[in-house]
Amino acid sequence: MEKRIRLGLFDSGIGGFSVLRECLTAESGADFFYYGDNARAPYGERPEEEIGAFVREALDEFALIGVDAVILACNTATAVCADEVRGEYGFPIVGTEPAVKSASAYPSAAVLCTPRTAESARLRALIARFPQTRFEVIPSKGLAIAVEDFYLRRKPLDLRDHLPKTDCACAVLGCTHYSLIRRKISTYWEIPVLDGARGTARRAFGVIKVGRDDHLAPPKNTNDCLGDFSSIWGKHRIFFLGSGKIGNKALFDSNICFKNF
Ligand code: DGL
Repeated sequence: MEKRIRLGLFDSGIGGFSVLRECLTAESGADFFYYGDNARAPYGERPEEEIGAFVREALDEFALIGVDAVILACNTATAVCADEVRGEYGFPIVGTEPAVKSASAYPSAAVLCTPRTAESARLRALIARFPQTRFEVIPSKGLAIAVEDFYLRRKPLDLRDHLPKTDCACAVLGCTHYSLIRRKISTYWEIPVLDGARGTARRAFGVIKVGRDDHLAPPKNTNDCLGDFSSIWGKHRIFFLGSGKIGNKALFDSNICFKNF
C-alpha cells in the first residue's frame, strides 16, 4: 500500500498557513494535519506554562493520529517549549525560528515577534551567533490577533497602529502570523522582509524517514469525523483540527495559501 507522509502542523491560529503553503509544494501526495488553536490565540502574551500545556494537547492529538513529524509552525511555542516536548513524543518535532541567519547578511535587522518570543533565551542565543549585525527586537502585542481579525473577521488592519518606525536595513518576521502580511510590512517599512517558512518546511520533510511504516494504523476518524474538516489540494489532503478548525478550513478553501502575501 502506498505510504503517504503524515505531517502535523501546529499554530495558535492561522499563522501556520505560511508554513503549510510551503509544504504543499511537495511533489508526493501527503496528508497534513493542521491544528489551529484560534479560540485561545494569541499565545504571545500568555504564561509559559499555559503555552506548554496547550502545545502538549495538540501533540497528544498528533500522537493518536500517528504522524511522521510535527512542525511547530509557531515561533512562540518553539521559543517556549520545543526543547522540552521533543523528549516527550515519539516523532520528530521541527520548530520555527526567526530567519536571523539570513538577516546576518545585512548591517542591521528589526526582529518583529511576540512578547514571549522577544524575551526568550532562545532568541537571545540565536542573535548572539551573528554579532556583525545589529538586531533590534520589536515585540508586538496586538499584531498576531490583528492578522487573525483581518483574515477571519474581515477587520481592517492598519500597520500604523502596530509598527514603530525603524532605521534597520531589513526585517525578520519572528511570528508566522506576520508572514501572512509580509508584503504589507515590507511596503510599510520600505525594507526587505525575511521569513523562515520555506526553510522550516524543508527541514520537516528532511527529518521524515521515507519508507518508515511503523506508525499506527490510520485512526478511524481520519475518514469519518475528521473528513468533515478536510480539504484537497492537488495530491494533498489537509485535515483541520483544534479549536479553529471550522474557520481555518473555510479560510484554506478561500485559497489563502496561494495569495501573494
Ligand atoms: N503564530 C505564532 C508565532 O509564530 C503566535 C502568535 C500568537 O498567538 O501570539 O509566534
